Amino acid sequence: MAIPEEIINEIKYKNDIETVMAPYVALKRRGKNLVGLCPFHNEKTPSFTVYPDNGSFYCFGCGVGGDVFSFVRQIENLDYIDAVKLLAERSGIALPQDGYDDSMQKLKTTIFEINRETAKFYHNYLMSPEGKWALDYLTGRGLSVATIKHFGLGAAPDGWDNLIKHLKGLGYSIPDMIQANVIGKSQRGTYYDRFRKRVMFPIINIRGKVIGFSGRAMPGEDKMGGKYVNTSDTPVYKKSDNLFGMNFAKNHCDERIILVEGNMDVISLHQAGFENAVAALGTAFTEEQAKLLSRYTNEIVLIMDSDEAGQKAARRASNILQNTGINIRVVLLPEGKDPDEFIKKNGAPRFEALLLGAVSEIEYKLLAAVNGIDISVEDGKVKYLNKAAEIIAESNDIITRDIYIGKLSEKYGISRTAIKDKVEEIRKSNHRRRDKREFEEMVHPRFEKTDVNPEKRMYPAAVAAEETVIAILMQHPDFYETAIERLKPENMLTAVNRRIYKFICECIQSGRNPDLSYFGEALSPAEMGYLSALANSEKGDKNALIVLKDSIKVILDEGLRKTENPKDMSTDDWAQNLQKIIESKQKGK
Ligand code: UTP
Ligand code: MN
Repeated sequence: MAIPEEIINEIKYKNDIETVMAPYVALKRRGKNLVGLCPFHNEKTPSFTVYPDNGSFYCFGCGVGGDVFSFVRQIENLDYIDAVKLLAERSGIALPQDGYDDSMQKLKTTIFEINRETAKFYHNYLMSPEGKWALDYLTGRGLSVATIKHFGLGAAPDGWDNLIKHLKGLGYSIPDMIQANVIGKSQRGTYYDRFRKRVMFPIINIRGKVIGFSGRAMPGEDKMGGKYVNTSDTPVYKKSDNLFGMNFAKNHCDERIILVEGNMDVISLHQAGFENAVAALGTAFTEEQAKLLSRYTNEIVLIMDSDEAGQKAARRASNILQNTGINIRVVLLPEGKDPDEFIKKNGAPRFEALLLGAVSEIEYKLLAAVNGIDISVEDGKVKYLNKAAEIIAESNDIITRDIYIGKLSEKYGISRTAIKDKVEEIRKSNHRRRDKREFEEMVHPRFEKTDVNPEKRMYPAAVAAEETVIAILMQHPDFYETAIERLKPENMLTAVNRRIYKFICECIQSGRNPDLSYFGEALSPAEMGYLSALANSEKGDKNALIVLKDSIKVILDEGLRKTENPKDMSTDDWAQNLQKIIESKQKGK
């Protein structure tokens, strides 16, 4: 299970924590450390601290902390191994194939293989004489063979078991094919190919691996299963986390990424030279997708169909993207067109012009807000202006607000002051609401500051001493001999610290420095935060050796008291005692 330590160290060395954090947190230098607003909880004053010296971080607000692996693990919601892998790949370090493979890992590897073989099978079929119907369809829609190959497009033959037979021939098992979601099981218990007589779009992740498929029915044949059939979530694919075309767009996104609705739109745009186009995979746009985009670009141009569904999708996407701080612009396509049709009909230069004319988000919202309101009557006008004032109030930039207040006033013949007062009124009430929400979040933070050491209540003084010992040894491993001579792991009174101290001892004994990364796999994220706080605390700053000895004495004394007076100290008794106190107080009242 364990990844060799040298490799962990190399990965850590090549992924400096500031650079890895940069897309997620704006950090400012403060002394030798860096601070910023914590990405794990809502705050106004920065308590998220990064310590470049030892490559760790800790948030004094919510208690999140650890090293670069802990950070990636938590911000990307990964388990430890996947966080290590992500950083390994980011820095081009190869991980050994075995040694840490567990069964889930093996299954994922198999699914990737099945996906790759399936994509090859579909592609070869498309390019074979039998696949002519599908190739005709794709070229008929204007795709060149080069584009088809670039995207690895394919076709699924008609019939129930073409793929099953093929994959069986390659030695894959039915359960694995099911897990990859390329085949299904009928109610009668028979197995069948999930994609039949469809053109196939492989979905490829940013690391170039086939993670799923999207299959389009032939025109007029979309009764069964709908126009598109997509891979359901599998161990390697979560559709809400991925974007079609991102594997290419990630290399062409210096200026912006174009977000469209359909796979065909992406392919058409790429063929026309807009290789920065991506599409949400038949889902409503999600926060995960926004996060993925925000890692690569500062600007998104949303291009949505002009139908009602497209407008709705645009509103949703822009709301979600707003929270990421990416700049958003919106292109309104002429009635009844999608980007694919538009570019085929009008060519790339006209499309480019459309991009240039993309309106700011606020302008777009003001335009879209007219929908469904009859502004030719007074009632409608009032309704629209109220809506518009709310949209303008969302902007935190006073000049932007002023510009649009001016525009509205001119367009609708209403005084500037009236609109301005309205906007300010809305801003005030929004502020009150936000303050309340922030307060709520402070009371119930998203990252629960878990009580890592619940036994602390029982021996507060001794636990403080335990923490000091741990902090000092993390910072001065050379005091190890002094410590271990006096204090054995079993002398630690609380379980967490016992465990951590034991790790530290093992680590130093084997001749290494107790770096946070040494604990990444063994400790929970919350425990990592706890340890990171200790490793960066000032406890080891002055007279460390004396403080260490004193602290050990405090722990040992407390331990002695505990053994001399065990009744006093067992958890049950402690709880019972507390119960008695509470009861006596209640009686007294
Ligand atoms: P569209 O219906 O706009 O399809 O759906 P399209 O991309 O323009 O495809 P063509 O041009 O008709 O071939 C937009 C996207 O919504 C998802 C697909 O990802 C599609 O690309 N979708 C649509 C589904 O997942 N299932 C469906 O049945 C329809
Ligand atoms: Mn289309």
